[in-house]
Amino acid sequence: MQDQSVTIQTLERLTTEALSALESAADSKALESWHSAYLGRRGSVTQMLRRVGELPKEERPAFGRRANEIKVELEAAYEAQAGVIRAAEMEKTLAEGAIDVTLPGRPVARGRLHPSTQILRRIYQIWADMGFQIYRSRDVETDEYNFQLLNFPPHHPAREMQDTFYTTDEDVLLRTHTSPGQIRAMREAVAKNPDNPPPIRIALPGMCFRSEQITARSEVQFNQVEGLAVGIDITFADLKGTLVDFARRMFGQNARTRFRASYFPFTEPSAEMDVECFVCGGEGCSVCKQSGWLEILGCGMVHPIVLQNGGYDPRRYTGYAFGMGLERQLMLRYKIDDIRYFWGNDARFLEQF
Ligand code: PHE
Repeated sequence: MQDQSVTIQTLERLTTEALSALESAADSKALESWHSAYLGRRGSVTQMLRRVGELPKEERPAFGRRANEIKVELEAAYEAQAGVIRAAEMEKTLAEGAIDVTLPGRPVARGRLHPSTQILRRIYQIWADMGFQIYRSRDVETDEYNFQLLNFPPHHPAREMQDTFYTTDEDVLLRTHTSPGQIRAMREAVAKNPDNPPPIRIALPGMCFRSEQITARSEVQFNQVEGLAVGIDITFADLKGTLVDFARRMFGQNARTRFRASYFPFTEPSAEMDVECFVCGGEGCSVCKQSGWLEILGCGMVHPIVLQNGGYDPRRYTGYAFGMGLERQLMLRYKIDDIRYFWGNDARFLEQF
């Protein structure tokens, strides 16, 4: 364009060309090159204006005036186009960066209560409704509490069913059942009122331990819930009525139960309670081994020696006790065929409850 002669006409032509080029500048990059091509220091319009001196003197004022108008006009057109492009580009980045709120979210893994904890809480609720207080006793016991005070003398053959884990401290072991809590609860009540110990009605939950070969049917740890009632004139009929009521609350109003004679050193007489198989309704199936019954707990009248060891005079007081295992009940109920799932910590198992 340098070679063009300087006239108002060439200036006007250049302006028309610049305006149409501006219209086709579609993004800010094109816009910037347009600006330097026409209005920059080396831009064609700027160059043209500098050459005003090449005109005859009398044409210069008119050219100068028009040139200034054109500069203003082109700058304004440039600003307008820049505004349009900026808005379009902003819209585009917003659209590209937008969060798609219709995408499904990533699920957050939710924790839940262990099946043993769930059934424990249900059992607490039932015993609480029936007037039994929850009593927590220790997991680590002495030989004296776990065995001797419960009428298992040293070397008594009944100990064999409850082999346990001994610590390096002599006589300190992991409890094999919740029954030692009976002695602790009785002694605590007697300490409060030695002359006239109050009646007791408690449920004692917790983990028990036995030294077992771990197999599908036996684990080295499991939960029990013990029950103890001590008072005046408590009879085997109270024991039976209470446990039958418990079974109805736990397994349904129509749950049938039966008692079988049994043996425990710390109860006399002793029994085991079965409930009618809740899987087959008593018809006989693989869960109840075709018998129609499921054993759920051991029970009996508290042995006079045990009452005595607890500080209750067996001539004045009587009582009953029972103890049930939880994982066994869960296995029966949900047809879980391997007890090792309970403490195996496999989320695929735990998520099912
Ligand atoms: N402690 C017994 C056991 O673990 C159960 C039991 C408790 C039996 C209370 C009678 C009375 O096998």
